[in-house]
This record gives sequence, C-alpha cells and structure tokens, in this order.
Amino acid sequence: MPLRSLRAAIPAGVLLEDEAARAPFLTDHRRLYQGRALAVALPRSTAEVSTLLAWCNAQRVGVVPQGGNTSYCGGATPDESGAQLVIGLQRLRRVRAVDAANLSMTVEAGCTLAEVQQAASAAERLFPLELGSAGSCQIGGNLATNAGGLNVLRFGMARALTLGVEAVLADGRVFSHLRALRKDNTGYDLTGLMVGSEGTLGIITAATLRLWPQLRCWATAFVAVADVAAAVTLLARLRAAVGERVNSYELLPRNAVELALRHIEGVANPLPGNHDWYVLCELSSFADEALNSMLEGALADASAVGLVQDAALCAGERQRAQLWRLRENVPEAQRRAGPSLKHDISVPIGALGDFVAAASAWVRQHVPSGTLVAYGHAGDGNLHFNISFPKETPAEFLAREEPLIRRAIHDLVAAHGGSFSAEHGIGRLKVAELERYASPVTLAMMREVKRSLDPHGIMNPGKLLAVADTLRETPAAS
Ligand code: FAD
Ligand code: MLT
Ligand code: ZN
Repeated sequence: MPLRSLRAAIPAGVLLEDEAARAPFLTDHRRLYQGRALAVALPRSTAEVSTLLAWCNAQRVGVVPQGGNTSYCGGATPDESGAQLVIGLQRLRRVRAVDAANLSMTVEAGCTLAEVQQAASAAERLFPLELGSAGSCQIGGNLATNAGGLNVLRFGMARALTLGVEAVLADGRVFSHLRALRKDNTGYDLTGLMVGSEGTLGIITAATLRLWPQLRCWATAFVAVADVAAAVTLLARLRAAVGERVNSYELLPRNAVELALRHIEGVANPLPGNHDWYVLCELSSFADEALNSMLEGALADASAVGLVQDAALCAGERQRAQLWRLRENVPEAQRRAGPSLKHDISVPIGALGDFVAAASAWVRQHVPSGTLVAYGHAGDGNLHFNISFPKETPAEFLAREEPLIRRAIHDLVAAHGGSFSAEHGIGRLKVAELERYASPVTLAMMREVKRSLDPHGIMNPGKLLAVADTLRETPAAS
C-alpha cells in the first residue's frame, strides 16, 4: 500500500524498479550490514528530493540517504524492517558553477569527490579534500560525514572546506544557502550544522565549496622512526622548520607496510631494512620553492639528534605516486588479509605516544588472536587503531568479542582526552558510544535540534543519535 501511494506521489522514473540493481543499496561496501527497503529512489533534482521527503514525512516513512556507500559505520544502509526508503543521490551530478576568482565552486551532492577535484583542477584551482575512496564517495556523503583524510593538517576537514549548502529538510522544505562568502556572520551556523549530520537532519543536495590556488610543488619523504613519540616530536620540528608547508603526516607501522606489499600489486618497499614505524610526510607550496632541500635539511637535523633512523626522499612524481599508493591501499590490503575491527580514534597529538603504548599493551594481553595495525593521520592525532584477524576467524567470535574490545579501546581513548569518532562518523555502529561518552547536556542539545528539524524522526532512523521511535505515530491524512 505505501509503495502504491509513493508511486502515485512522485514522477515516473525516480524509483529503481529492477531488483538486482537495488541490491547494492541494501548493504554497505564491506557487507557488514544487510538491510531491506520499501524502495530505492534515485531523484534527478532537488525538487524531486523535496517531493520524496514531503511524502515520507506525511506517511512517517523512514529515509536513508545514500551517497557513494563507502561509510565504515553502516550509516547509509537501511534497517531490516523493509519499511525505509533509500534515497541515492548519484543522479544529482552537475557542477553548477566554478568561480575561479572567488575561489569557490558549487556542485551537486552526487558528484564523486574525484569529479569535484577534477572540476576544480580544470579551472586551475585546488579542492584539497583527499580520501582513499575519492573515486566512489560523493561530495554529499563527504559533507554529511564531515570527512577528513590525508590533507587535514593543512586544509581542515570537510566542514572547513564548505561555504554553504542546499539541503532538503524532513518536511520537504529546501534550505537554500549556497552562499559563496568567507565572511557571513548572520546568526547560527546552519551550514555547519548540516555538515556532519549524517543524513539525520536533511538531505544535502548541493554545496558551495572553498577552493585554493593549485599547488606548484611537493616534497615527499618516507621516514623510519623508533616509535610514535618520535614521530610526534619530528612533526613539531618539521613545522618549526617549514611551517604551514607540511600538508600530510601519515604514520604507518611495519606491519601495515608489509600488508600493502603483500596484497597490493605495484607497491614497492620504500626503505630497506626493518623499522617499527614509518612516517609518510609531504610538504607542498603554492609557489616554486626548493621544498626538497627544505625537507632534506629538516630531516638531516632531526637525524643528527637521533629522531630519524632512515629516510627516502622521493625523486619524482612516479615515486611520490607509489608512496601514496602504498598508504592509500592499507585499508584494502587489510581487507584482503582477513576481517578486522576498526577504531577511528583521535587524541591530542601530545598524548598519541602514551595512548598507543597503553592501548597496544591492552590488545597484546586481551586479544591474542588479533594483530594490531595502527596507522593513519598522526598529524591530526587521528589513528585507525585496527585489529586484524586471520581469514578463518569465525564471524561469531568477532561478533562476541567486538563490543568488549571496542569498549576497552574507547575507554582508553577517553582517558587520554580523545574521541571515539575522529573522521568516519557515528552511523549505526557507534550510537551507544555517543550515549556513553557525550555529556548529558550535549546529548540533550542534539536531541532538541533533531526534534525541531525532524519531529517525526524520519531522517536516517537509528543512526547517530538514539531517539524515541516516533515513526509508529499515526500518519497524517494524505
Ligand atoms: P555514504 O557512505 O553513502 O554515507 C555516509 C553517511 O552520510 C550516511 O549516514 C548517509 O546517510 C549520509 N549521506 C550520504 N549522502 C548524503 C547526502 N547527500 N545528504 C545527507 N546525508 C548523506 N573517511 C575519511 O574521513 N577519511 C579517510 O581518509 C577515508 N578513507 C577511506 C578510504 C577507503 C578505501 C574507504 C572505503 C573509505 C574511506 N573513508 C574515509 C570513509 C568514507 O569514504 C567517508 O566517510 C565518505 O565521506 C563517505 O561518503 P559516501 O558518499 O560514500 O557516503
Ligand atoms: C584511511 O585513512 O585509510 C581510512 O580512513 C581508514 C580506513 O579505511 O580504515
Ligand atoms: Zn582515515
């Protein structure tokens, strides 16, 4: 019955009728979550998104927005009820405008991140968000999760790159705020509120993004260090030497490098010998500068005081691409190696060494069948504190152990002043964690915002925030 009513309410061609074509929308890319749906809708315009949400709001039908479906938290997968409507954004794919002089561009939510980067580059500008999933994730999903990635150190997370959004609210109203302004103190930051809301407050249909001039040169090095504390000290020295030019600072343990060497074709070993930890660091500049000699000098100084064990400076673009291929494929290598439990955590950077020491000791003692692979954006204090298991590990074992492991690691994160969700979001995976670690006032404010923008709780139910199930209320007459 609801499906017939939905068909009558929306223009032809919006619903995905083919069952096989619907299947990928009902599971996440790692196939950890499997849902069912009333239907999958692929609207072609903001107006069609508005029609869909107005109908869902009137009928009290839950809505699951979906971008590139690369989330690690099950945020874009419907629940098992078969009563929710998945709304995929991939047909909203226009670059509406690039204003090179204003260093801004307006794009629709369904553009992939790679398409946004290319459109900026075609106008000789830079859109600096960079993730390993750039070819498949969508800019709407990047904003909805406030994505981070590889260049946060210099350019910030997705929220910092967003000037304005167009979003459809739960009742179908369109919040049209595509303002290309760097200064705009006109009340509450509603754009900032939509960014990072994970589809629970509305559907982002377009965004105005900040651009930069194109970078002119890079210097990239792969550096062996004794431990995490040494990596942190090295970053401080580099910043003191070259300032804002440090744009990426990625930490890799030996076993992450080995995973990439074993499972990813075309990855080469950047440094001879065995070291426990490595840093992939990159400087960049908007002007032609002697970055290689700056980096070489800074690393030589650090080596002289025993901070650097060995280092390889990239000789050219080919080597640089190879290093990044290694780094960006660590998650894929880990996936190919077997199941893993992921913890996307951050701590203040000064606490990174102590946190890794304490949490590694806990894992060694309590998870003997797992191998810790802790890598990531150390420059932002953000690590993917992942535990890999052999391929044959029974799913029931992981399901049983996962909550205990997650709790212990997240408690250690909290004890070090950190966050259990650094860049991937909450989704459905970490709803209980938010309840545990956020203060009562924070939770109350979030619920009040949610209630005022989505009083019937139709937007991505069961994700991000635990709220009373209001969908069972009697639908409004339609
Ligand atoms: P989806 O997975 O489709 O959705 C994510 C959430 O956003 C869901 O809650 C969904 O309901 C909501 N949503 C999607 N589109 C919209 C919209 N238009 N309006 C409102 N809500 C919406 N993440 C990082 O932050 N940093 C990384 O370095 C990083 N590296 C990755 C590397 C790999 C190989 C992979 C597979 C993933 C990586 N990710 C990373 C995670 C993921 O790519 C990001 O979270 C990304 O921003 C999700 O975008 P998406 O379009 O795939 O969103
Ligand atoms: C990354 O930085 O590679 C991802 O965010 C982490 C992951 O995919 O596990
Ligand atoms: Zn990451």
